[in-house]
Amino acid sequence: MTQSLIFATANPHKLTEVQAMLPAHIRLLSLADVDFVGDIPETEPTLEGNALQKARYIFERFGKPCFSDDTGLETEALNGAPGVYSARYAGATGSQAEKAQANMSKLLAELSGASNRKARFRTVIAYIDASGTEHLFEGVVNGAISEKPCGTTGFGYDPVFIPDGYHLSFAQMPLDEKNRISHRARAFGKFAEWIE
Ligand code: IMP
Repeated sequence: MTQSLIFATANPHKLTEVQAMLPAHIRLLSLADVDFVGDIPETEPTLEGNALQKARYIFERFGKPCFSDDTGLETEALNGAPGVYSARYAGATGSQAEKAQANMSKLLAELSGASNRKARFRTVIAYIDASGTEHLFEGVVNGAISEKPCGTTGFGYDPVFIPDGYHLSFAQMPLDEKNRISHRARAFGKFAEWIE
């Protein structure tokens, strides 16, 4: 039987990407599908807190099973920064591409001269089932921050992130390879397996 889940994201690309990672009997509903307009608050200081905050906000309004995700890039030398602030590390103005450039420049400046360049991408999914019970799923990919940006595919911090076991940045890999090993793929893989 088909099961509908609301995905608390305003990003249609994410919806398509995640739909492809879930079993065929799960049908994702976008916020537009449930006629939701407006911004969902994201004001918590952790990925878990933000993911739960977004899912609770939608569950309280619609009373239907829903989930949301939150991702951050965490570096060891900077005590986990940019972390939950990854999207707006260098400020919230400009196009997506401009913000990504500014974020990467700031990160490389903060890590200038640092010998410890260990980093990880971490995705947290918060799912609230029909009874209101909350469930969390996590996906991690470990790696290191390069000395300079390399590559052009992907988005965000991809040009400066080299996953463990590779000599290429995420932005130098074919997208399907990144999508196979990424934090998001791992988190949604766990979610998909659990929901099956
Ligand atoms: P979100 O929670 O998925 O919106 O991700 C927050 C921020 O983390 C994004 O704006 C990007 O800066 C960064 N980010 C998330 N996923 C990736 C990725 O796969 N590659 C590079 N950067 C990412």
